[in-house]
Amino acid sequence: MNQDLNFSMWAVILLLLMIFSQAEAYDPLDPFGNITIKWDVVSWTPDGYVAVVTMNNFQMYRHIMSPGWTLSWGWAKKEVIWSMVGAQATEQGDCSKFKGNVPHCCKRNPTVVDLLPGVPYNQQIANCCKAGVVASWGQDPASAVSSFQVSVGLSGTSNKTVKLPKNFTLLGPGPGYTCGPAKIVPSTVYFTPDHRRKTQALMTWNVMCTYSQLLVSKHPSCCVSLSSFYNDTILPCSTCSCGCENKKDCIKSDSNKLKKAGINTPRKDNVPLLQCTHHMCPIRIHWHVKINYREYWRVKIAITNFNYRLNYTQWTLVAQHPNLNNVTQVFSFDYKPLVPYQSINDTGMFYGMKFYNDLLMEAGPFGNVQTEILLKKDKNTFTLKQGWAFPRKIYFNGDECQLPPPDAYPILPNFAHKNLISFSRIACLIVLLFVFV
Ligand SMILES: *[C@@H]1O[C@H](CO)[C@@H](O)[C@H](O)[C@H]1NC(C)=O
Ligand SMILES: *[C@@H]1O[C@H](CO)[C@@H](O)[C@H](O)[C@H]1NC(C)=O
Ligand SMILES: *[C@@H]1O[C@H](CO)[C@@H](O)[C@H](O)[C@H]1NC(C)=O
Ligand SMILES: *[C@@H]1O[C@H](CO)[C@@H](O)[C@H](O)[C@H]1NC(C)=O
Ligand SMILES: *[C@@H]1O[C@H](CO)[C@@H](O)[C@H](O)[C@H]1NC(C)=O
Ligand SMILES: *[C@@H]1O[C@H](CO)[C@@H](O)[C@H](O)[C@H]1NC(C)=O
Ligand SMILES: *[C@@H]1O[C@H](CO)[C@@H](O)[C@H](O)[C@H]1NC(C)=O
Repeated sequence: MNQDLNFSMWAVILLLLMIFSQAEAYDPLDPFGNITIKWDVVSWTPDGYVAVVTMNNFQMYRHIMSPGWTLSWGWAKKEVIWSMVGAQATEQGDCSKFKGNVPHCCKRNPTVVDLLPGVPYNQQIANCCKAGVVASWGQDPASAVSSFQVSVGLSGTSNKTVKLPKNFTLLGPGPGYTCGPAKIVPSTVYFTPDHRRKTQALMTWNVMCTYSQLLVSKHPSCCVSLSSFYNDTILPCSTCSCGCENKKDCIKSDSNKLKKAGINTPRKDNVPLLQCTHHMCPIRIHWHVKINYREYWRVKIAITNFNYRLNYTQWTLVAQHPNLNNVTQVFSFDYKPLVPYQSINDTGMFYGMKFYNDLLMEAGPFGNVQTEILLKKDKNTFTLKQGWAFPRKIYFNGDECQLPPPDAYPILPNFAHKNLISFSRIACLIVLLFVFV
């Protein structure tokens, strides 16, 4: 009775936590995560300026996947882009009033994308030309940056007359980001390429963009299933975890359509082609409590891709569990503890090992990756009761996954109950003995 009460209290707390985390625009596991777009004016020109634009992804575990970022903004006056290095505007717009030297883009709201790798050197600058793919800060800080250079005309030509661009929109690659206004900040100080002299931008402004899952979809994009060695129940993902609106378009795993050529070709709009499941999620995370040793315990985590049209590159998985402060070993994934609030060390990120399993393949026989983790028990907190061994939160690629309802978690068989059964069995045997002897 007491245990049941405890359990439902715990369930209510978990539910409340879930509700609150859904309502927040910021991510409680990465409270300072943001993408900062910095414009450094490196020279003034007769009719404008040249700026190096640098996009830094300061999010611990959310990267920008292929097909990459798209950045647009609105000009404050009648500016044009004379030329760009390391990126390009998707449309030139109406440049008919220019004779001779024609600008690269005359649109009031230019939209810019990164160049593909392998462009000639004279069209590159540092950190450009990665097809818009930007790693997360936690996984690979050196690759968590993207840059291009833009030469702007018909604008102010000094820090007194220049007008900052407005209305920044970042797609990465889909919706989710909201960008604030550009703000003038202290000028960036650089080292010259030979690292022997410091120079300074003539003027610098920043734009900060933050992510909210609610802007992407009202449904989660991944779900969690649970199992344990101490109970045969496998708790599957909840039905329609990711919404069943598109169930009519899904493909059964044994369908002949899968043999058709081009079935795995990604589409421009990134619309997934899902394997039919009752949860209809592109990604499922399975958490299995595998072994209980004397001093340690072991968890197996498997990630399965159900999207036939997408390979996940540089995927990340974030888990929150109170025992992650005592991770002893992580097999076949890389692991990094995340300590957003300094004092609480219950969150960590997992990601694939380079060239081994950092690519989660499209749905099918190879569409999964897995790990096992060994955790050292803290005698004061470790328990198999009340679903303690299951995760509190799971994120895949920065999106929170749907956990099943806590009251359905596989529970530790009640030993008192078991004894009762064996006692009644013994009683039964005794009765039988009396009957037959
Ligand atoms: C954006 O990220 C940077 C780097 O982590 C951090 O210094 C800054 O405080 C963040 N901004 C906000 C508003 O969280
Ligand atoms: C503008 O530039 C001048 C020198 O070129 C500098 O003295 C001044 O502080 C700058 N003003 C701003 C707002 O950056
Ligand atoms: C802001 O940008 C978006 C997308 O580029 C555009 O649709 C919208 O009209 C712009 N709004 C303003 C006020 O410029
Ligand atoms: C995934 O990667 C494999 C191997 O690189 C490739 O053959 C396949 O076409 C890719 N699938 C998608 C959906 O891009
Ligand atoms: C957090 O836990 C990890 C083990 O998972 C440990 O290596 C790390 O030192 C801990 N960090 C803090 C700040 O306690
Ligand atoms: C678990 O980790 C915490 C903080 O990292 C540490 O204080 C504690 O001693 C560890 N417990 C065990 C059993 O190693
Ligand atoms: C396993 O867990 C389920 C779900 O909580 C529960 O209904 C069932 O009784 C448990 N099985 C045993 C043998 O205790």
